[in-house]
Amino acid sequence: MSNNAAYGIRAAFPGNRPRRMRRDAFSRRLMQEHHFTVDMLIQPYFIVEGQNQRQAVPSMPGVDRLSIDHLLESAATVHALGVPAIVLFPVTEDTAKTDDCRGAWDPEGLAQRAIRALKAQIPELGVITDVALDPYSPHGHDGLMNESGYIMNDETVDALVRQALSHADAGADVVAPSDMMDGRIGAIREALEAGEHRHTRILSYAAKYASSFYGPFRDAVGAAAALGKSSKSSYQLDPCNSNEAMHEIAADLQEGADMIMVKPGLPYLDIVRRAVDTFAVPTYAYHVSGEYAMLKAAAAQGWIDEKAIVLETMMAFRRAGCDAVLTYCAEDVATWLKSA
Ligand code: PBG
Repeated sequence: MSNNAAYGIRAAFPGNRPRRMRRDAFSRRLMQEHHFTVDMLIQPYFIVEGQNQRQAVPSMPGVDRLSIDHLLESAATVHALGVPAIVLFPVTEDTAKTDDCRGAWDPEGLAQRAIRALKAQIPELGVITDVALDPYSPHGHDGLMNESGYIMNDETVDALVRQALSHADAGADVVAPSDMMDGRIGAIREALEAGEHRHTRILSYAAKYASSFYGPFRDAVGAAAALGKSSKSSYQLDPCNSNEAMHEIAADLQEGADMIMVKPGLPYLDIVRRAVDTFAVPTYAYHVSGEYAMLKAAAAQGWIDEKAIVLETMMAFRRAGCDAVLTYCAEDVATWLKSA
């Protein structure tokens, strides 16, 4: 059977020799379908209390937990490279963890102080905050727990609303609920509107899977020990499912999300593609800590070419339909793109 059956318009070989277009750089450039630019990068940061703190995360080589002073320096660097936005993950002290998670909406909390400092110093840099209770709960789960160990939905949503409002009050441009409770987007949207925060954007982690790829992140924020063998499967998505993710995304969009995220990234590009084809809204992927750790470990062994593989990975996100990628490689990618 000839190619004509599939495409209708192409000659059969040798009229059609696809390698003609691949022969030279100029014609390869002319038919390049996708481009990855600095506009598609979001840089995450782990932040800690104190001054002049820079703590390495062993399972995430190249990633440090930073005190606010170092955060401001690093954010200025990525801003100068052209990265549009950053996302903050506070690593809280044990004293900030309580059963009711009230530390999450403390106006003087670590996240809130970091937001204010960033918006004062680099107002044009987009500040995205993580809305979830795991840094503030003694058990490391994203919500409030009842006596039987179940993560309660509606009670957690009330707490997330307070947390999101405190981030918006501090000046956050985007709040990003990563908790996977039902109904939280609608509740947060309603509270933002009522509280005169009508410009605050919501980036919903709409399709967040109960994944084993989050291990190094849990080391970075100190949740691994608290969580122990306990799993997040009663609220995060089952990696076996794809329809369920479409259902979650539809609900979050209907409730008022401006952007949606799929997480993890590379192993879930089928979900990204399906979401883009179905909903055609700003769609991002989170290239998560486990994906980063795998790249870094192989690169450290000299088994892979880190720069080439990271750039190819970014292009894979783009080709799958991502409008932006949250990645620990953002600063490196921005640097490489600049020098290319
Ligand atoms: C928790 C949260 C997690 C990540 C981002 N926010 C971990 C989890 O759900 O247990 C993981 C990110 C990564 O692995 O890089 N709200």
